[in-house]
Amino acid sequence: MSFLELSGIQKSFGPVQVVHDFDMTIEKGEFVSFLGPSGCGKTTVLRMIAGFETPSGGTIRINGKNQESLKPNQRNIGMVFQAYALFPNMTVHDNVAFGLKIAGMNKAAVDARVKEMLGLIHLGHLADRFPYQMSGGQQQRVALARALAPKPQVLLLDEPLSALDAKIRVSLREEIRMIQQQLGITTVFVTHDQEEALSISDRIVVMNSGRADQIGTPFDIYNKPATRFVASFVGTLNLIEATVVDPASNRISIGDQAITLREPLGPVKAGDTVSLALRPEAGSIAESAKGDTALTGQVVSSNFLGSVIRTRMKVGDPVISFDMFNAPGLSPPAVGDVVTLRFTASDLLIIRE
Ligand SMILES: Nc1ncnc2c1ncn2[C@@H]1O[C@H](COP(=O)(O)OP(=O)(O)O)[C@@H](O)[C@H]1O
Ligand SMILES: [Mg+2]
Repeated sequence: MSFLELSGIQKSFGPVQVVHDFDMTIEKGEFVSFLGPSGCGKTTVLRMIAGFETPSGGTIRINGKNQESLKPNQRNIGMVFQAYALFPNMTVHDNVAFGLKIAGMNKAAVDARVKEMLGLIHLGHLADRFPYQMSGGQQQRVALARALAPKPQVLLLDEPLSALDAKIRVSLREEIRMIQQQLGITTVFVTHDQEEALSISDRIVVMNSGRADQIGTPFDIYNKPATRFVASFVGTLNLIEATVVDPASNRISIGDQAITLREPLGPVKAGDTVSLALRPEAGSIAESAKGDTALTGQVVSSNFLGSVIRTRMKVGDPVISFDMFNAPGLSPPAVGDVVTLRFTASDLLIIRE
């Protein structure tokens, strides 16, 4: 039995179904991210777990117990929202104490627990501040402390970092992950940011139009995308339409260049189109690069992105992007140059759905 079980969850608003057959089991202490574009149903699933929305079908169990008849305040769930959810007229101390007082805890116990929670987020010195006197990042840490104070059995985080600037976002996501592991609390984290999901999750659910397209570890989601949607949403990637040359030998052509794939092509015939995915970081243009296959093309653009230089080259019709690390002494190819990108045949993934 898993700790949090969603079985066949459906949700319709009026005639519009926004969540379809959502199945997911989450182990105790696991950190799972729901990743998907805006409007794909992430918040709706989270709100059903919390009890703010009623599923149109399916069952939610926590620790074996069906949650159907339980109100939000009976589920013992902690929640953190995107931003600005602290009580503005209460100090940090009182915000964190709020749920504990409601639960009927005595003052001494409340104060001790608040102190412990503020220590956890390193904000003990700001206990008397009001939310407007703190940065967005500090406010979200307080929101996290407030959610965790009553010792919830599940923690739900709905895009808690998306209102913050880039640097704070990175440090706070690491802090959230550290606290989550320290407490061993079962957590669902909603985000539309693939890097965020990849960096802190035990597993990721990639959501597409109210469905779970793929559930897997960050490594699997990135390296073995199950669908075209996952492949294009998670990371930057080249989706290449290739033509089958000889199915028996897995030979295809990209533009005017033939390549033998590692993976069997399956039931296709010569002349059919297959979709291939190639990550921009997969190849290298260095002459000495190890590789069992290559594509030659003409550079059409070169963008400096900081740690990498992303170059696009035209291989017949298809345009393929690849990244070079911004290593000392690198001289990136110029627009108009003809370059050869070397990679291994197994870097080309066949996208079947
Ligand atoms: N209370 C509601 N009434 C009607 N439609 C809703 C309601 N809440 C969400 N939706 C719709 O459900 C879909 C999923 O929304 P949501 O779960 O908020 O997506 P996400 O969090 O992934 O951005 C969207 O099309 C949204 O417009
Ligand atoms: Mg949302």
